[in-house]
Amino acid sequence: METVELQKGTTVSDPLPSPALTGTSQVLVSARGLQKSFHDRPILKNVDFDMHRGDITVIIGKSGSGKSTLLRALAGLTEPDAGEIRIEGQTVFADGARTKEWDTLSGDVGMIFQTYTLWPHMNVLDNLTLAPRKTRGMAASEARDRAEAALDEVGMKHHILSRSTQLSGGERQRVAIARALMMKPKLLLCDEITSALDPPVAAEVLDVLRRLKEEDNIAVALVTHDMAFASKAADRLVFFLNGEIAVNTTPDEAFENCSNAELQKFVDAVRF
Ligand SMILES: Nc1ncnc2c1ncn2[C@@H]1O[C@H](COP(=O)(O)OP(=O)(O)OP(=O)(O)O)[C@@H](O)[C@H]1O
Ligand SMILES: [Mg+2]
Repeated sequence: METVELQKGTTVSDPLPSPALTGTSQVLVSARGLQKSFHDRPILKNVDFDMHRGDITVIIGKSGSGKSTLLRALAGLTEPDAGEIRIEGQTVFADGARTKEWDTLSGDVGMIFQTYTLWPHMNVLDNLTLAPRKTRGMAASEARDRAEAALDEVGMKHHILSRSTQLSGGERQRVAIARALMMKPKLLLCDEITSALDPPVAAEVLDVLRRLKEEDNIAVALVTHDMAFASKAADRLVFFLNGEIAVNTTPDEAFENCSNAELQKFVDAVRF
């Protein structure tokens, strides 16, 4: 049986075939043949998708093209009808169901949404520690230590006892990132997290994501409608069209040498 070395000391059998790696990064997540229909309408049509450690992969595409559905499938919030998902070579979804490996690897995946989804009546510390303590049985002292470290990473430790209603939009989104960091994820899925923020604040959030990918080697997937933001943020740019990945390229290639007429319309919108 074919084997591949993924990390020092780990070998995994029968890897999914992957396209060439970008730079020195390695594949963290592989999805193959993902399909999902809602009410008999195909939303994901045979999607193949890789994410690499230390890369920000920006996903763009028209409204309704399936971007959030893809992220939700990777996060375990939506079950695809068919296809396979692997994290570090281990199958976490196959044959229409999560595998037992997902139970241990789900903590590797964090997801953040456009709306901050923080509890308004709780302070920042409680917002971060509630789920790990209640659903993962984490001890209060460990939860507090992790919360302090996560808030430090996003520059929000001084707000640990603030209520979320006392924070600005950018601060709330940084707290939402910190909350996603509580389980020390290797993959961060961000669905339009800067859409409600003005450009300088969006840039601050991007700085946080960049630091996470550079210092912690986290893989980031970022869905956005903001092409200027996409061009700044992306190591890879994925263009979604009608439930399929129409283009998967570098931002330079997309902006300077675009091969897809529909993507070109998005590119032109930035130059407008
Ligand atoms: N739970 C659901 N039940 C029924 N239809 C759904 C469900 N989730 C998504 N859809 C449909 O699937 C399609 C794709 O939705 P999705 O949210 O993935 O698009 P998107 O690319 O993220 O769009 P946007 O840019 O507007 O966020 C939409 O037509 C949507 O209505
Ligand atoms: Mg969406």
